[in-house]
Amino acid sequence: MQWLSLASLALVAPASGMLRFSCSQLVVDRIDPLVNPGVAPSPHLHQLVGGNALNVSMDPSLDLPAQASCTTCTFTEDFSNYWTAVMYFRARNGTYKRVPTFANQYLEPANGGITVYYIPPYDGRTKVTAFKKGFRMLVGDPTRREDAKDGDSRQLSFRCWDKNFAGEAGAPGTGKDTKTLPSKACAGGIRANHFFPTCWDGQNLDSPDHRSHVAYPTSGSFESGGPCPASHPVKIPQILYEVAWDTRQFNDPNEWPEDGSQPFVFSFGDKTGYGTHADYVFGWQGDALQRAMDANCNVNCPTLRSQSTAAANKCTLQPKVKENIDQWLTELPGGV
Ligand SMILES: *[C@@H]1O[C@H](CO)[C@@H](O)[C@H](O)[C@H]1NC(C)=O
Ligand SMILES: *[C@@H]1O[C@H](CO)[C@@H](O)[C@H](O)[C@H]1NC(C)=O
Repeated sequence: MQWLSLASLALVAPASGMLRFSCSQLVVDRIDPLVNPGVAPSPHLHQLVGGNALNVSMDPSLDLPAQASCTTCTFTEDFSNYWTAVMYFRARNGTYKRVPTFANQYLEPANGGITVYYIPPYDGRTKVTAFKKGFRMLVGDPTRREDAKDGDSRQLSFRCWDKNFAGEAGAPGTGKDTKTLPSKACAGGIRANHFFPTCWDGQNLDSPDHRSHVAYPTSGSFESGGPCPASHPVKIPQILYEVAWDTRQFNDPNEWPEDGSQPFVFSFGDKTGYGTHADYVFGWQGDALQRAMDANCNVNCPTLRSQSTAAANKCTLQPKVKENIDQWLTELPGGV
């Protein structure tokens, strides 16, 4: 974890653990059980990972660990679901091709998917409270096309990788990371970073906008131990999703727009990147996540049961919505 060591250099306190693991692709589907429950097709396409109890609707009362028979995540007590939008490449002739994801740095080859982190405060002392059964939230807003300069916008960014993950080091969102999709071709692909809020109201598992029950620290940052607002006093683990978009096969300058703009577009029709967003439905078994947080776990976490990436890759679901998503398309799925 290159960026942990660099990030911790900037802090006085010693770095604590940072649970980091891969969740292979479960399905790419036009569903959104948080924002559009029961709606299939939902307005835009997502890539979804985690437990196979994923469904078009997911009532908070569901016991996901009991319903699921497998998970695409390394830690097998984690039946949560994690999802983001999907990226497409738009060629000069106007047709779209889906951009796959690839295995992240320092992780075994996963079948694409999302790298998930649960991070306790870096001082290694402050306790976080793991999420409760039925908890869910989101970060980001697919309708955004400019910098809202709010908590969310600080938490969403992109890294333009050189070959073999080289290039800018440091924590996601620092250095040369951008809030917009990179304007030039990235020889090693593009990483999207999504940090969720870290303060909870302590009562509501969800809220109508899926965000009011959580908040950002009032000053400073989670990393620096910034205090939670009185309305949201409970410190929760900092969830980070990293998505490694394999744009490498789309770097031919002859296929890039002649006006000098970049050719990648999210499945909700956003070329800027400001609309990037991520969704979370908690589904850990029992107190497994709390145990992992209390143990300051890293990539290795002896208190948790785990599986190989090869085993995780075998957990898949058929899409609920049958449509073409992988050929050259004349419009994005859903016509957005
Ligand atoms: C998904 O929901 C449908 C309709 O409620 C149900 O029949 C099905 O069993 C559910 N699938 C899973 C994997 O829970
Ligand atoms: C559009 O361009 C892509 C990339 O060059 C190519 O693979 C595809 O066949 C083209 N489609 C049409 C309809 O010309």
